[in-house]
Amino acid sequence: MLQICDLGVAYGHAKVIHDLNLTLNPGEMVFIVGRNGAGKTTLLKTIAGLLKPMKGSITYNDQSIAGQPPEKLARLGFRFVAQDKKVFSELTVRSNIELAAYGAGEPMDKAWSKVTQIYPKIEEFRDMPAGNLSGGQREILLIGRALVGDPKVLLIDEPTEGLAAIVIQDIFRILSNMRNAVSAIIVEQNLSIVKRLADRIYVMKEGNLIREIADKSEIADSTQLETYL
Ligand SMILES: Nc1ncnc2c1ncn2[C@@H]1O[C@H](COP(=O)(O)OP(=O)(O)OP(=O)(O)O)[C@@H](O)[C@H]1O
Ligand SMILES: [Mg+2]
Repeated sequence: MLQICDLGVAYGHAKVIHDLNLTLNPGEMVFIVGRNGAGKTTLLKTIAGLLKPMKGSITYNDQSIAGQPPEKLARLGFRFVAQDKKVFSELTVRSNIELAAYGAGEPMDKAWSKVTQIYPKIEEFRDMPAGNLSGGQREILLIGRALVGDPKVLLIDEPTEGLAAIVIQDIFRILSNMRNAVSAIIVEQNLSIVKRLADRIYVMKEGNLIREIADKSEIADSTQLETYL
């Protein structure tokens, strides 16, 4: 479905991704782990059209999409959930979804029901400024927003980063319920979450996927990322 071949991405002269190859099949959840600065966000942003590759190809259903503008990729069903958990903080929770519904041409009732389905508690916050939500709730709102319209490929950048254990469990449950319904590439550092959700796991280092962790059973609760670097 999504095929990335020999991808190279640079910021000016600084090459950050080198000859990277990755395939995503329908209904798969692929996870990428790696240290700070490995290029994980750069990879997701490039797929989402926010950065232009310097070389290589990105093909979606046999259509070349590398370097296409993000709006076009959004229409094709790409959804990027950024690492910074940024919402429209002055707008209400509901208006944050309304904007996405408007953008995607989806009736608001339908869009809102997608969000309440993954997180019923959001009803309590619907008329509050989104900026009042906790970090975890903001992440959930952003994941819900990504489901508005007709999402095909979710690109989620560190969904549990900096969050309390209890809300990490909420996010785990939400992602777990989405399994098979959508395809996703998720960057995540929490190996125990990755182990339980991933169809495939890749380790990213210095701009490339250096290995696949094919045997998930080798990941113990105490296993550190360093084991694979
Ligand atoms: N806008 C930018 N301009 C120049 N260099 C950048 C820019 N954004 C990122 N970089 C550099 O590119 C490299 C990869 O950054 P990237 O954010 O993709 O890493 P990451 O794996 O997502 O890291 P983290 O785990 O900290 O989120 C880093 O060396 C970073 O300093
Ligand atoms: Mg990052």
